[in-house]
Amino acid sequence: MAEAKKVTTETLRKMKEAGEKISMVTAYDYPTARIVDEAGIEIILVGDSVGNVVLGYPNTVPVEVDEIIHHAKAVMRGVKTSLVVGDMPFMSFNVSAEQAMTNAGRLAKEGGTDVVKLEGGEEVADVVRAIVTRCGIPVMGHIGLTPQRVSQLGGFKVQGKDIGKARKVLADARILEDAGAFALILECVPYPLAKKITESVSIPTIGIGGGPYCDGQVLVLHDLLGLTAGFQAKFVKRYANLNETIKEALPAYKAEVASGTFPSIETHSFTMNADVLAELE
Ligand code: KIV
Repeated sequence: MAEAKKVTTETLRKMKEAGEKISMVTAYDYPTARIVDEAGIEIILVGDSVGNVVLGYPNTVPVEVDEIIHHAKAVMRGVKTSLVVGDMPFMSFNVSAEQAMTNAGRLAKEGGTDVVKLEGGEEVADVVRAIVTRCGIPVMGHIGLTPQRVSQLGGFKVQGKDIGKARKVLADARILEDAGAFALILECVPYPLAKKITESVSIPTIGIGGGPYCDGQVLVLHDLLGLTAGFQAKFVKRYANLNETIKEALPAYKAEVASGTFPSIETHSFTMNADVLAELE
């Protein structure tokens, strides 16, 4: 069987043109990155959601560039074909274009990611333009609900429900396209607005709570596998229940260790030459 070709920004552009849907999930480590890559998922996001999903932070705000780099390196070791996106954490690109270029460069150079993603609309257009044109690093935009600005937005709310906000999200999409972004995440926007944006820009839109008319979809891997506990956003669909699987596996292991059923001599243990054993005894 022929080896699958590395996904590039060009691949994604052609998929949009051909009406083929793009799939994207997060991954933060080597084993899951390998599985996702082998499943043929086009894009892997080393998201700042690593903060709340695996590092135990309350949200994405505390995540540092060094942490994304650490996880990106592990992901890159497991990936052959998926396009890997390094997420730019809170305050790693907001101060100046220079700061943004330095940190985008670190994600590409030290983390090895193919492209970077950053949150925001018109207010970050200059930063997007600088990273794309001066560094040559492709940038994925992220508009609608931008979790790094959750305090300003007043919570995790659907964005663009009223006419003023809807116009702002649509304008942000066009501005980011013009600034050189190669794709856009549309998070938590009403589906008719996501449809309008998708039809209005030539770059792919990837929805998370953006409805079915986006060019692609993204979910946090741990959400879709049923590994996260507690509150679950309306846009999440669970394709497995690994929480339950793990909850069944661990007591079974503990019980077998306690009863001496595990490990068995036949299956899980190593023998040794009888002569050596005799000498030893
Ligand atoms: O960090 C992340 O997981 C994200 C997705 C929600 C798009 O930014």
